[in-house]
Amino acid sequence: MIFPLSKTALSFVVVILALFAPAKGASFGKRVQSNAPGWDPHSTPFPPVHRGDVVFQYRSEAAKGNVSVPDPYNSFETSNAEDFINSQIAFTKTYLDKLEDLPAMRTAISEATPQTFRPPRGFGPKGDPTYLYYTNEGPDKSGKLHIAKQSDLDEAAKNHFATLPGKVFIDETLLGGEILWYYQISPDGTKLLYSTVDTKTNLIGKMYVRDVSSPLTDKSKPTQEGGFGRYTDVITDLQAGSEAWSGDSKSFFYKGTDTSVKYHVIGTDSKDDITVVQPNKDDQGDWWVQVSKDGKYLVLYGTVNGFDNSSVYVASLDQGVSTSMKWLCIAPDHASSWNYITNFGNDFYSQTSSKDAPNLQVVRFTLDFTKATKTDSSFSTFAKGADSVVVIPQRLDASIAYFVNFDTDKLLIIYEKDNALEFHVFNLKTGMKLQKIDLDVLSTSYEVHASPFATHVYLKISALNSPGQLYDLKWNKDSNQFSYQLVYQQKIHTIDPAAYTVQRLSAPSKAGDVKVPFFALHRKNLKFDGSHPVIINFYAAYGYVLPTWYDSHHMAFVHNYDAVYILAAPRGGDEMGEGWHKAGQLQNKQNTFDDVLSVIQFAIDQKWTSPGKVILNVQSPAALAGAAIVNQAPEGLIGAYIGTQGLYDMLRSDQSPKKATRAAEFGSPSDPKAFDWLREYSPLHNIDPKKTYPTILIYPLDGDADTGGEAWHSFKQVSELQYSLPNNPNPILLGNGTDTQEERSATAFALAAHTLGSKLVE
Ligand SMILES: *[C@@H]1O[C@H](CO)[C@@H](O)[C@H](O)[C@H]1NC(C)=O
Ligand SMILES: *[C@@H]1O[C@H](CO)[C@@H](O)[C@H](O)[C@H]1NC(C)=O
Ligand SMILES: *[C@@H]1O[C@H](CO)[C@@H](O)[C@H](O)[C@H]1NC(C)=O
Repeated sequence: MIFPLSKTALSFVVVILALFAPAKGASFGKRVQSNAPGWDPHSTPFPPVHRGDVVFQYRSEAAKGNVSVPDPYNSFETSNAEDFINSQIAFTKTYLDKLEDLPAMRTAISEATPQTFRPPRGFGPKGDPTYLYYTNEGPDKSGKLHIAKQSDLDEAAKNHFATLPGKVFIDETLLGGEILWYYQISPDGTKLLYSTVDTKTNLIGKMYVRDVSSPLTDKSKPTQEGGFGRYTDVITDLQAGSEAWSGDSKSFFYKGTDTSVKYHVIGTDSKDDITVVQPNKDDQGDWWVQVSKDGKYLVLYGTVNGFDNSSVYVASLDQGVSTSMKWLCIAPDHASSWNYITNFGNDFYSQTSSKDAPNLQVVRFTLDFTKATKTDSSFSTFAKGADSVVVIPQRLDASIAYFVNFDTDKLLIIYEKDNALEFHVFNLKTGMKLQKIDLDVLSTSYEVHASPFATHVYLKISALNSPGQLYDLKWNKDSNQFSYQLVYQQKIHTIDPAAYTVQRLSAPSKAGDVKVPFFALHRKNLKFDGSHPVIINFYAAYGYVLPTWYDSHHMAFVHNYDAVYILAAPRGGDEMGEGWHKAGQLQNKQNTFDDVLSVIQFAIDQKWTSPGKVILNVQSPAALAGAAIVNQAPEGLIGAYIGTQGLYDMLRSDQSPKKATRAAEFGSPSDPKAFDWLREYSPLHNIDPKKTYPTILIYPLDGDADTGGEAWHSFKQVSELQYSLPNNPNPILLGNGTDTQEERSATAFALAAHTLGSKLVE
């Protein structure tokens, strides 16, 4: 007798069958991984890509001779890849159409984006500073420059800036299609010098003057470039950001487009502006000037090839401004960095580096202006610099990140030590330390301004969980101490910063010899049951560190999916000093990859997440590292890889105008030793066709080869991945590199969530 199978029994049989049926495309002995939802490489195969027969020869030390390496997608290096891009992006779109969370991700990013708030900056005469600060309510809005006195700021601090202090001074909508770039009030407090960017061309390039008593807020007045009611003076031959008021408040210096230093007197035709320093064509040099804080001297810096190091000269403005001024030389070579702090008469204070003090120190020069001399246009007259006395010696355990001078002779130095900030106050004349300030913040991202003669310093800190905390540091002359208070906490539309926590932790490295530091952001009281997605970002090359500032994109993902965001500091950046950089460059690059894997292991051990729920969201040199990690990681560990503007073909990394910079960081493929280590990890050459790969989304971005790459790196990588892994259970996609950054993040994060099976938090 045959009994009919009940519905439950039937589905039981189906489940058993499914468990024993080998998944298509999976190799034997491997963990069977189910397809990403809606992903079927059989019915929708990858678009075909032509493989060529180019093969390159490389000299290899290990092989004691030449090694041949095919480069089947070499034609991308030179060809217009339009057809490839169009077919790939059309293919990508068929899958992106399935992302149910994309609208929610777009909304979350937009809602997590705070209004721009730049902290107050004081200008003008001693004892009575006038403050300017800038706000902008959103990406499509235009900004406002506000003006306030100390009493306005003190009043607003009482109610935590519920009403913004002072008044609107410039409404950007009235600038005739321009936005503000740089602004400063004259030493006598009466005039504003401001430069603008043309919103259509994105070119910085015009400078205007207006009276501080003449705000630009009246919408009934006609709009014009620079706004109604300005002076008729317009400077167009300008590299903005280097302008400086002269001490007389009637004239200013600026840098011309040819890098000459020019001088303009208000009310005269800019065609008659005096060239103070000629363009330095011979060595591609760049000049810029500062006017000393007492308004009496001109400090001139010259750089070569954009390095920080500069030559420095000083001239007295008493002699009048001309093309042939008499100068004194502080440093004739480009062997150190220099940063004028202030001067008392002819005692000049500067921050500087030197061979013996790479962590920066503060020194004093006593200059004798009777010895100033005329020089030729390249300043080659000067062979010798000035003698200096060390006032604040360098610290061996920390480097000076920034300083501000306030209350005439006080100096607030911000030190960076092991990827954390320290705030110390000094008396500049004596070098004596007066105070160490302990702000309870876990971040290295700040903006600070002080007026040299004022007693308030405004410091804004941005952290992973909070867009901006404004501190008012008030100097008490009697006790020689700051008292400080948090006066303003910037709000985000739907997200309460207090509901999130930032931790600074470290994971033991693979060899156990070092600890790999990282910051982690997540909702407070998150239940650690291994269920949360973890999204990891880092930089780890060129000794560069990603700032720990508030990042609305990652915050939106954390908010939407109860995710953990990890900003990691693997070796290759200089979070722990230059040694940390060296330990992650050239033949040591593997340390970068191992360090990221150590951090991932830590997150799994802590039960924040589990294998398969880890997302790498990486850009530029980190996209390279991330792709190497995807190749090397145990199968199933990484859930998704989002790589933007990456270098993937390390054997062709020298096909770039930036090849020297890259060779110094990674090694040159034409060097037989470097070839061996590059071949070992180059992402394009280490794809494992027998392995299941995570979801991969690669955004090709043209342009800035300094930090990332030529888009053909991305085209080669996507083509090779698709060719090697035709049946990969997770999508391998080329993203649209011309989408806005917001849209790229929204798409990538919705894709990652979809393929990982993460659900939106209610
Ligand atoms: C070996 O490779 C180098 C670099 O590509 C090349 O210049 C040289 O001609 C090659 N030598 C031989 C014997 O093929
Ligand atoms: C810059 O100066 C430092 C010493 O302060 C020196 O070690 C370094 O080599 C210099 N860099 C350049 C590019 O000249
Ligand atoms: C990529 O995105 C841009 C802007 O969103 C759009 O104009 C362009 O058509 C897209 N490219 C392709 C190939 O779809």
